[in-house]
Order: sequence, then structure tokens, then C-alpha cells
Amino acid sequence: MSLLYNFFLFYFLFPLIIQAKSSKINPINPFFENDIGCEKVKYPSEILAPIPYLKECLTTIDGLVVYPDDPYYYHSIKVMNCRNSYFPVVVIYVTTISDIQKSIDCANTLNISVTARSGGHSYEEYGNGGKSGAMVIDVQELNQIDINFETKTAVIGTGNRLGTIYYKLYKDGFLLPAGYCLNVGIGGHATGGGYGMVGRKYGMASDNIVSAEMVTANGTFLSPINSKHHSDLFFAIRGAGNAGYGIITSLTFKIYPIWPIVTTINIAYFSDQIELAFNILAKVAKNLSENLNAYIFLIPKINNNSNTLLINATYLGSEEEARNAAKELIELSNPAYIKFKEMPWWKAVKAQSPPFNRQPFKVTSYTIPPQGFSREAIRFLVNFINNMECMSGVLFDLYASDALSRISVNSSAFIHRNILFVMELETMLDGHSKNVQNKCVKKHLQFSQEFQAKYTSYFSYQDYIDKDLPDWLTRYYGSHVPRLIETKKKYDPDNLFNWKQSIPTELP
Ligand SMILES: Cc1cc2nc3c(=O)[nH]c(=O)nc-3n(C[C@H](O)[C@H](O)[C@H](O)COP(=O)(O)OP(=O)(O)OC[C@H]3O[C@@H](n4cnc5c(N)ncnc54)[C@H](O)[C@@H]3O)c2cc1C
Ligand SMILES: *[C@@H]1O[C@H](CO)[C@@H](O)[C@H](O)[C@H]1NC(C)=O
Ligand SMILES: *[C@@H]1O[C@H](CO)[C@@H](O)[C@H](O)[C@H]1NC(C)=O
Ligand SMILES: *[C@@H]1O[C@H](CO)[C@@H](O)[C@H](O)[C@H]1NC(C)=O
Ligand SMILES: *[C@@H]1O[C@H](CO)[C@@H](O)[C@H](O)[C@H]1NC(C)=O
Ligand SMILES: *[C@@H]1O[C@H](CO)[C@@H](O)[C@H](O)[C@H]1NC(C)=O
Ligand SMILES: *[C@@H]1O[C@H](CO)[C@@H](O)[C@H](O)[C@H]1NC(C)=O
Repeated sequence: MSLLYNFFLFYFLFPLIIQAKSSKINPINPFFENDIGCEKVKYPSEILAPIPYLKECLTTIDGLVVYPDDPYYYHSIKVMNCRNSYFPVVVIYVTTISDIQKSIDCANTLNISVTARSGGHSYEEYGNGGKSGAMVIDVQELNQIDINFETKTAVIGTGNRLGTIYYKLYKDGFLLPAGYCLNVGIGGHATGGGYGMVGRKYGMASDNIVSAEMVTANGTFLSPINSKHHSDLFFAIRGAGNAGYGIITSLTFKIYPIWPIVTTINIAYFSDQIELAFNILAKVAKNLSENLNAYIFLIPKINNNSNTLLINATYLGSEEEARNAAKELIELSNPAYIKFKEMPWWKAVKAQSPPFNRQPFKVTSYTIPPQGFSREAIRFLVNFINNMECMSGVLFDLYASDALSRISVNSSAFIHRNILFVMELETMLDGHSKNVQNKCVKKHLQFSQEFQAKYTSYFSYQDYIDKDLPDWLTRYYGSHVPRLIETKKKYDPDNLFNWKQSIPTELP
């Protein structure tokens, strides 16, 4: 999820998403062609040394192989965030399992680390390796979507984007519980959680994975990975599957019939009303119908002398039912603006997806316990975003639901269950000099540590990954860390898949 400042772009990009299932490999990725404030940085020449050996070793790959001196190289490394710059030694658009196995063989022989890339939406550019010189295995060509109408499951290639999946399923009357943003890749997303428009009803995307397939560090293709086969890996990939266990090639999900009519609810509060709104949200959240799902923006003062809190909710059902479900919240919190609008499923899916440009930005995340915020916490937060030189804003995903909390924290690597919100603090860096950008990130991180220490739970959400997060292993995976390390050691003992926040082979 992300704050949105460029509404128009989405409507321009959306047709491209639907067409993105081309059979030809296209390294000019339409999702990232438009950017704001991304400078072009040249790759460092140190990464070039292994290339002659790689070229020899990768001759039999069917997919497109892109090296730094190829004309498509800079296109092939365009990802959502351009704050960091990591330069892979090679990007391989694999088309088959055998392509992946051959690539991994070469990487093992040449001692090059390997990273999978699905949609390129990692907040830290981990899809480009998380450091320079890695082999990037781009899975965009693994784009199958096969629905089983009887079992209500779908086998989904990890190269698909959420928009393509949602559209295909919708055409057949189904939905998949996953994120709001249609450009996000399923491979990196569903394996680290995945919260979206029906999260309070059907849980995280990772909760709905019933099976997976993966190529591991020695080139073995494991299929199926489920509760019976490789159950240790099955545990790990539902929450930590994007943290270096292997190249996941497909995920099988439980899917659900669409709700033909959905009602969007837009609610706004200004300035002084905001504290009360947070207060009431904490009070009523647990009791809100699970058909009601919401994300909430806290927006700094811009061209206006007030802060704004926007609730963007969807109710699975009619306007009448929606009004009833939101009644208590509205009566108690007395918003400045309320709007209900009934619409068909697909229109609501599009309306809820915030557009987002490729740009430099920094994100940190927090989990907020059921009791919510103190007044002091809200004031501290509002004061911070109002005084940032770069634009900062806050997004809250409303969790608080039985669908999330009734699943045991021990049933998978995903631990964030009994909470009110996952909160995301975003700072946009475009339009500022490098110097100001660095200052903004530093201020953001200083604030973040203090805020997390004083006002939130200990934990953070791994899909909103933050390379500067102290004690990140525990904050992302809680008490599962030793178990995750054991599993890593078993399937990737030589740490082939490694970057700053991949699961290590030993306790740090
Ligand atoms: C604009 C925007 C909107 C977002 N909206 C939401 C939202 O609504 N809800 C939510 O929960 N999150 C949201 N996110 C966060 C998103 O879930 C994560 O950034 C996610 O990891 C992105 O996955 P990706 O495949 O697009 O990214 P990538 O950069 O391709 O991959 C991310 C990580 O996953 C690993 N990975 C990717 N593919 C595979 C694979 N096949 N096998 C193994 N590992 C793999 C990569 O190595 C990398 O470490 C959003 C992010 C952005 C930028
Ligand atoms: C492999 O590379 C890593 C660092 O990239 C290095 O520490 C290690 O010594 C190398 N191993 C071999 C066998 O060359
Ligand atoms: C829960 O919600 C229902 C209707 O939405 C309302 O009648 C009831 O008073 C609420 N209960 C609490 C404890 O808030
Ligand atoms: C500015 O704030 C006022 C309340 O103080 C609100 O009524 C108005 O809609 C806001 N304008 C914008 C553009 O957000
Ligand atoms: C909130 O939802 C509406 C549709 O209900 C959408 O048009 C709008 O862009 C959304 N606002 C934000 C800030 O995402
Ligand atoms: C989860 O497992 C740990 C030990 O592995 C245990 O201490 C804890 O009580 C379990 N939690 C639940 C909710 O079952
Ligand atoms: C390769 O790794 C798998 C686990 O991922 C293991 O079961 C298998 O024995 C290994 N094969 C070889 C040849 O080492």
C-alpha cells in the first residue's frame, strides 16, 4: 500500500496491466517507465569480472539474459523504489524450471549470490539483489493462472501481478485475498503476508497458500511443498518465503467467490477530530463486521491549515448493509465527510488501488496493539509529519479481525495477528537534492526508533521491508527466528540466496 499523489497515472497504466501477459519477454517493463526523481546511476565496473564465465555457462538458457553492457540493462533493473541502486551482474528472464536450474548451477560454480524478482515492488530494491553483483532471476514469464473450480483453488505462477490475477479470477467469478496495489508481484507479496481489500474477511494472502513449488539452492525442484511434503519449508514460505529460501515458481491459493455488489465508504476527519477518530476506531474495530475492510491515511498539512484523516473502506455487500455496519463508528466519531457508493466488484478493486510512481522513498512499519494510540502518540506523529521538509504521510491497514487472529501465530512464519493496525510511515524524496534526501531519511529513522520504542508494539511487517530496522529478525518473525534459521540451513546451507535481510544460516 502506498500514499498516493498522482491519481491520473493509474488510469493510464491500468490497460497495460491487463495486456502485460505477453508471450514475448519484454525487458522494457511498462510498470516502471514513468518515474519521478530517479536519477540514472552507472553500474560500478567491479561487477563485470565474472561475465565471461557467465556467458559461457548460460548459453543454453531459453529466456532472455541481460548483462550490464546490453542495451536493455537499465530497463531490466527498473524497480519501484529508486532510493538505493543495486546493480546485478546478470538479469535472467527464466521461462522454464530448467532455466532456473541452469542459472543456479552457474551461480553455484561461480560463487555468485542469487535473488528472485517478481514484481519489483520491494521497498528496499531487494528484487535487484540487495547489493551489487548478484544474479537476478526474474520470474515474470512464469505467468500461469489455472483455476480449479471444484476445489476453489488457483495455481498461480509467481511472475503474475495482482491486477492480472484479480482480473482473470474475476472473469471466472473468483477473488484472491491479497494487496490493494494492482502492480505488486504475487511472488514477493504473498510470501511475506499480503494484506488487502478482503483481509479482515479471508486473512492474509499467505494464509491462503495451500501449496507451492520451488527451486532450491542445489537446483532441486521441490513440488509440492505443503502441509504434508516439506512442511518445514511450507511453514517458512508463508511469511518468510521472500527472504531467501529459493526461487518459488508457483503458489496454489484458496480462492473465494466474488461479492457481486460492493460499497465503497469514504470518511474524512480534519484537525481536532483526528484524535477522537483514532480513539473510536480502537474501540469499535474488533466489533466491526468482517465484511468491512479499510485503509486509513493520515495526511500532513498541505496547502491547507489542517491535517486530514481519510478512511477508505469497502463493504462486501449493499449500501444499506454498509451504512448499518459503519453506523456505530460514524455516530461515535462524527466525521466531517461521509460518502457511500455501491459498485460492482471489479470497479471497487480498481477504485481501491492507489497509483504509485517509480520514485525514491523510505518506508518504516509498525504494528499497533488492540488498544490503539495514546493522545500523546498521535500528537507526536502529527507533529512529525507536519514538520518534515520532504513529504511524509502515514497509512494504517485495519487488521483487528477474527479471520486474522483465530489463526495460530504458530501455524506459519507470519506472526502479526492480534493487532489493530499495521502502520506504515512513508517519506517521499523526489524533488529534493541528494543532501536533503539523506537528511530526510535520517530524520525519518530517528523519529521512527523513538516512536516504535514508546508507542507501538515491538514488531514490524516484513512486506514493508526496511533495511535500517534494528533487530529486524525478531521484529519480523518473532519467536520463529530459530526455526526459520534451521530451515534455511537445511535448504540453503551455503547461503546462495543472501542479502542484508535474507534469513541467515546461523543466529547473528
Ligand atoms: C506501491 C506499493 C503498494 C503496495 N501495496 C501493498 C498492499 O496493499 N498490501 C501489502 O501487504 N503490501 C503492499 N506492498 C508491499 C509489497 O507486498 C511488497 O513490497 C512485496 O514484497 C513486493 O513483491 P514484488 O514481487 O512486487 O517485489 P520484488 O521486489 O520482486 O520482490 C520482493 C522480495 O521478494 C523476493 N521474491 C520475489 N519473487 C520471489 C519468488 N518467486 N521466490 C522467492 N522470492 C521472491 C525478492 O527476492 C525480494 O526479496 C506494496 C508495495 C508497493 C511498492
Ligand atoms: C564466495 O563469495 C563470498 C563473498 O561474496 C566469499 O566470502 C567466499 O569466500 C567465496 N567463496 C569461495 C569458495 O570463493
Ligand atoms: C457491536 O456492533 C453492533 C452492531 O454493529 C452494536 O449493536 C453493538 O452495540 C456493538 N457492540 C459493542 C460492544 O460495541
Ligand atoms: C481543508 O480543511 C478544511 C477543514 O479545516 C476542509 O473542510 C477542507 O475540505 C480541506 N480542504 C482540502 C483541499 O483538503
Ligand atoms: C479512496 O477511495 C476512492 C474510491 O472509493 C478512490 O477514488 C480514492 O482515490 C481513494 N483515495 C485514496 C487516497 O486512495
Ligand atoms: C507457539 O510456540 C511457542 C514455542 O514454540 C510456544 O511457547 C507458544 O506458546 C506457542 N503459541 C501459541 C499461541 O500456541
Ligand atoms: C539438494 O537439496 C535438497 C533440499 O533442498 C536435498 O533434499 C537434496 O538431498 C539435495 N541434493 C543433493 C544432490 O545434494
